Amino acid sequence: MKKIVILISGRGSNMEALIAARDAGNLPVNLAAVISNRPDAKGLETAAKAGIATHYIDHKAFAGREAFDAALAECIDGFVPDLVVLAGFMRILSEGFVRHYEGRLMNIHPSLLPSFPGLHTHQRALEEGVRIHGCTVHFVTPTLDHGPVIIQAAVPVLDGDDEGALSARVLRQEHLIYPQAVRWFAEGRLTLDGARVRLSAELDDRAAFISPLLR
Ligand code: GRF
Repeated sequence: MKKIVILISGRGSNMEALIAARDAGNLPVNLAAVISNRPDAKGLETAAKAGIATHYIDHKAFAGREAFDAALAECIDGFVPDLVVLAGFMRILSEGFVRHYEGRLMNIHPSLLPSFPGLHTHQRALEEGVRIHGCTVHFVTPTLDHGPVIIQAAVPVLDGDDEGALSARVLRQEHLIYPQAVRWFAEGRLTLDGARVRLSAELDDRAAFISPLLR
């Protein structure tokens, strides 16, 4: 079974979706540890209750990004993971860190990348007036919120949406596509072909996540 380390900074609902999928027998992986850069991350409690090893490494205790990233990598590598999953981990990672985990570092971002990298994606989508928004799971490269796309889910932007309504609609999709992406990785079905992710299957089931509106 593939070993997975999850990095969080806060609520941890995507982490919870991964735990729930594992508990339901839909995600045959070993969730080895959850690591947070914030001691007060709510997700740490959730992980501990689920019997998963938890750690926190306070980024404020380090002189700079490189020193924090080195300590983080040391902690992660102690678990010898096959995959590191960023689930609401709100730190920019140094190029050296990202290169160390090339092809085994995934992130979820609340927009249809390459649109709206960075923060406040839902508010920016509303301000731009886009009619379709969503979320993306991708392999991480040194460029922030960028990298080979594994899966995306699209949702409509409805008249009258505010940031809360839109983010909730997107989050429901995040909780579906992240376990799916990790499952594909665990099954050895994801391969990198340059900047593209290929999914080995007779039928690429990524199409199933396209909103019915778009079919
Ligand atoms: C999610 O919207 C995720 O896409 C983004 O940060 C948020 C984290 O939420 N990177 P949670 O901690 O998983 O609940």
